[in-house]
Amino acid sequence: MCTSHEDAANDLSENMLIFEDFITKQEETALMNEIEPYMRRLRYEHDHWDDAIHGYRETERRNWNEENSKVLKRVQDVAFPPPTAKLAYVHILDLQKTGYIKPHIDAVRFCGNTIAGLSLLSSSVMRLVHDKQKDKYADFLLKRRSLYIMRDKARYDYTHEVLDEDNSKFKGEIVPRERRISVILRNEPDPEREEDFKS
Ligand code: OGA
Ligand code: MN
Repeated sequence: MCTSHEDAANDLSENMLIFEDFITKQEETALMNEIEPYMRRLRYEHDHWDDAIHGYRETERRNWNEENSKVLKRVQDVAFPPPTAKLAYVHILDLQKTGYIKPHIDAVRFCGNTIAGLSLLSSSVMRLVHDKQKDKYADFLLKRRSLYIMRDKARYDYTHEVLDEDNSKFKGEIVPRERRISVILRNEPDPEREEDFKS
């Protein structure tokens, strides 16, 4: 973490976790072998003015081969310990080299307090900025093959974004951006938060 503010460090040290080398190169290849035949058929999307994401294609997957299921089970075990119910569908987001994710907070209607993401093919920098106090922010280096777990305050009180290649720097060092695939697991929406949303 590279942070601007002591409060941000306190908020995020417990709620934005990164596990480097969470998967091996072989596991990364196995995931790509299952993902790529579907992904290759889709086009990268651009230029939707209201889109949070630029230069991307995406899909969802429920059923995985045995090898990949084991890897996803490992993610589930660290990110969603029982009794947390994770969503059956895994979200797969493919950002092209020039793609990026603008600051946003995932809708409370669609997922619960935890978002867990594996980074394949490229490292990148994720920035979290406090939604109400923009001077509170922190950058995180998401290395290729790492897992991040963003939960609670990090998920609800901070926007998150993935920096584009021109801004992809961590602690002053350039983090080269290549095509990046994230494999994202989320949990069931929290009914109480959904009520907040409706009222
Ligand atoms: C998203 C998102 C982050 C990532 O799809 O909402 O923020 O790691 N993705 O790709
Ligand atoms: Mn998001």
